[in-house]
Amino acid sequence: MQKFNASINFDHRLVDQDIRCSQAHAKMLGKQGIIKQGEAERIVQGLESILDEIKKGDFVLKPELEDIHMNIEARLAELIGPLAGKLHTARSRNDQVVTDLRLWLREKVDELVPAIENLQLSLLKQAENNIGTIMPGFTHLQCAQPITFAHHLMAYMCMLQRDKDRLLDSKKRLNESPLGSAALAGTSFPIDSDYTAKLLGFDRPIRNSIDGVSSRDFALEFLSTAAICATHLSRLADEIILWSSSQFDFIKLSDCYTTGSSIMPQKRNPDAAELVRAKTGRINGALITLLTVLKGLPLAYSKDLQEDKEPVFDTVETLAIVLEAMNGMVNDLKPLPQQMAASAAVGFSTATDLADRLVKIYQLPFREAHKIVGQIVILAEQRSCQLSELPLEMVQTIFPQMSEEDLASLTVEGSIESRTSIGGTSTKRVKEQITYWKEILS
Ligand code: ARG
Repeated sequence: MQKFNASINFDHRLVDQDIRCSQAHAKMLGKQGIIKQGEAERIVQGLESILDEIKKGDFVLKPELEDIHMNIEARLAELIGPLAGKLHTARSRNDQVVTDLRLWLREKVDELVPAIENLQLSLLKQAENNIGTIMPGFTHLQCAQPITFAHHLMAYMCMLQRDKDRLLDSKKRLNESPLGSAALAGTSFPIDSDYTAKLLGFDRPIRNSIDGVSSRDFALEFLSTAAICATHLSRLADEIILWSSSQFDFIKLSDCYTTGSSIMPQKRNPDAAELVRAKTGRINGALITLLTVLKGLPLAYSKDLQEDKEPVFDTVETLAIVLEAMNGMVNDLKPLPQQMAASAAVGFSTATDLADRLVKIYQLPFREAHKIVGQIVILAEQRSCQLSELPLEMVQTIFPQMSEEDLASLTVEGSIESRTSIGGTSTKRVKEQITYWKEILS
């Protein structure tokens, strides 16, 4: 039972938060006259020396003491004697543990936000250097329309900004103090929950003590945000894997983020990108884990809630390293502009441009123009040539008014520069985006 019941193997991470939470509680007990001021001071001091022991690596965790809260209280008793027993007045481990977890997660959110920002800055740097780097834009992983590398990277910029916004927004709900909820019903001692909330940097005490000890949607919200962010990163990771393959040959990854093969000397495997892609499974799993723990769980505290911590810890650690790896990869990768541009021209990527031109010049309905260009594409396929290389007479058998100029206008560059709608791939619009992100990130 001891082995099964214990959480110390993982909740030792909450040690700093637990001590700060206890210090705030002790100060409040002293201020309210629930214990004597001098007693409060000795408790706060005792807890401070435990912090020192931890920093020096002298604090020994005892698995038989179940969790971090019991471990610290036991050590406090060794240091200051039976007075330590007064610390737990007007409090329960139920409000204590969830206060600790909120404090811990708040700090980690504050670390993850700049980690996302670093990746955004690397994307911005690559985009600035690649405003003129032409690449194929894909739909269905088939060459669809020419775009620029900068334009493509800026799409990830937008996703990451929303991830960051979601994280920051979740803090509004995360940052309420459950301390004072006690076991579930509150306490008969004249505590001051506003005071402890303030000492611990919370916006306010939580409004309902039952909610205080039993809700974990702050953690769910973090995990869902992390899952969305990891999912975004997995898409970029997958593209990096494709782009760096010899079949695409769009980018070269730095040696720092690839590995060799033990049998094939020519290999440069994109391991870092593959791991980023795969770690998404683990983060998504954490979200499902906690959703499942909470599903149908009656109020208020049940031991089930001890299972809230590992998915959160693991996700924070995983997302942090995934962001760091992705940042390194994006920062170091070298685009291969010639191969990219060559690939942008194949697969009739300017067919839409021809259809658009028929609409603009000959006032055809778009559907009609689409059909005509479809037939012209079949011709080009049969002759294994580009649209612009088709003999005019041949094209005129399908659309008699077609001019030499119509066909000649089908360059990849022209196609890119023509897409001037907001958010489009033209240089002007991409530069606008870059200017915008520079300002946001500065
Ligand atoms: N280790 C426990 C947890 O993580 C602390 C709270 C224990 N509360 C209780 N009523 N047994 O949830």
